[in-house]
Amino acid sequence: MSTKLPSRTGKAPGAWPLLGHAWQLHSRPLEFLSSLPAHGDLVRIGMGPWPAYVVCEPEAAHRMLTDSRTFDKGGPFFDKARVLFGSSLPMAGWREHRWQRRQMQPAFQSDRIERYAVVMGEEVDRMTSRWQPGLRVDVTDALTTLTLRIVTRSVLGAEAQDEAVAEVQQSLHTVIDGIYQRVMLPLGPLYRLPTPANRRYRRACVRLHRAIDGIIAARRAAPGGDDLVSMLLAATNDDTGAPMTDTDIRDQLMVMIGAGFETTANSLAFALWLLSRHPDVESRVHDEVDRTLAGRTATTADLDGLTHTRRVINEVLRLYPAGWFFTRVTTTDTTLAGHQLPKGTALLYSAYLLQHRPELFPDPERFDPDRWAARPAETLPRGAHVPFGGGNRKCIGDQFALIEMTLALATVCARWRLVPDPGSTMTVRVRGTLGPGPLTMTCRPRGKASEG
Ligand code: HEM
Repeated sequence: MSTKLPSRTGKAPGAWPLLGHAWQLHSRPLEFLSSLPAHGDLVRIGMGPWPAYVVCEPEAAHRMLTDSRTFDKGGPFFDKARVLFGSSLPMAGWREHRWQRRQMQPAFQSDRIERYAVVMGEEVDRMTSRWQPGLRVDVTDALTTLTLRIVTRSVLGAEAQDEAVAEVQQSLHTVIDGIYQRVMLPLGPLYRLPTPANRRYRRACVRLHRAIDGIIAARRAAPGGDDLVSMLLAATNDDTGAPMTDTDIRDQLMVMIGAGFETTANSLAFALWLLSRHPDVESRVHDEVDRTLAGRTATTADLDGLTHTRRVINEVLRLYPAGWFFTRVTTTDTTLAGHQLPKGTALLYSAYLLQHRPELFPDPERFDPDRWAARPAETLPRGAHVPFGGGNRKCIGDQFALIEMTLALATVCARWRLVPDPGSTMTVRVRGTLGPGPLTMTCRPRGKASEG
């Protein structure tokens, strides 16, 4: 079925002088983005003083994502982030990106993910075995610790010293919060003042760098492993033949860990909240995990039996895609959705916007995992469901994340029901990632004796 609409371009209403739509983007970003398709397939907004086009039509989003040479990484927010993240994989321009991605991709092949899945199982066991009947936990916080431990242990390798991994885990939160603030609120010299927050940020950066540098040095001294650190040590630039410096490797590792924990933790927290609000969906997950796992820890061998759990994850990623907006910039004059764009045009795509289009996802605000049974992702128009982006810049950790979330959700649901306080609500928090914010829920053990 073709759902392609006639191509239209338009302008978002309500721009303020100098600020453009910065206020709308800041104060009610999701409502603002969802309102844009009414104005066209490609809608011009002002990101502060900079104009940018929001791509509202799936086929145009697909074209932009798959032609990464014409639509390269870039745009106003992005350029600020690049100062802080160097030219690591998500930041690299297309030419650099090509060789980096080729050399790092093997770390995400299925045999490696099998290994990471063992770590995933150990860490989920660790978390669920600490819970007690009646214990109230902030599930977002607990899941953030879980996914940070999983991604740090997976990315830094089994040989990394426990203390170094713990140091990375401790400092990373402060560093990521500081970076987010510096990108979204560029106050320049004010960040050099010796305020407690600035000092905390700088101290955390030093500790984080020292811990990762220690891991790199240890691996240099004992080469020959086959994990991501070893791949980065062996990587060379296609054009120059030069190896990565230790600073490049450190940036890659930091960005990989940074991209890989809050995204999955937030998605899992949304999933537990949504299950608690949809008892019919929850009871089908319970039936499925009882049948498949009977209380034991989920492994990759169980994935085929976890169809409904996977649909729940898919629907969470549609409803609340953790990566909710990204930018690109044109490297040459081109056309998109029938509109001419000069070189240097900033573009923005949002999985949230595309995945809430009612003609593709009827009743888009409804949490309905069964929509994926009625209409599997492969039958949707290209560019319609893009929680992990697309083309050769698609999330390198997509399979890692999908397996981690499915195994974690299944194991948690096999053992515990997480019950929110009566009358409590969830407010979507829009920052670098979409998340549910703190979510206090009470642990109720599952199993025949405790069900009721
Ligand atoms: C629910 C979990 C996740 C979501 C929703 C997500 C989403 C995304 C999206 C949308 C992109 C593309 C950005 C763009 O088009 O500019 C991306 C890229 C990326 N993600 Fe993820 N991600 C998740 C988990 C992970 C994990 C677990 C890792 C690593 C272990 C990871 C590492 C990366 C990296 C390195 C890139 C840049 C890829 C490149 O440019 O080649 N992500 N992610």
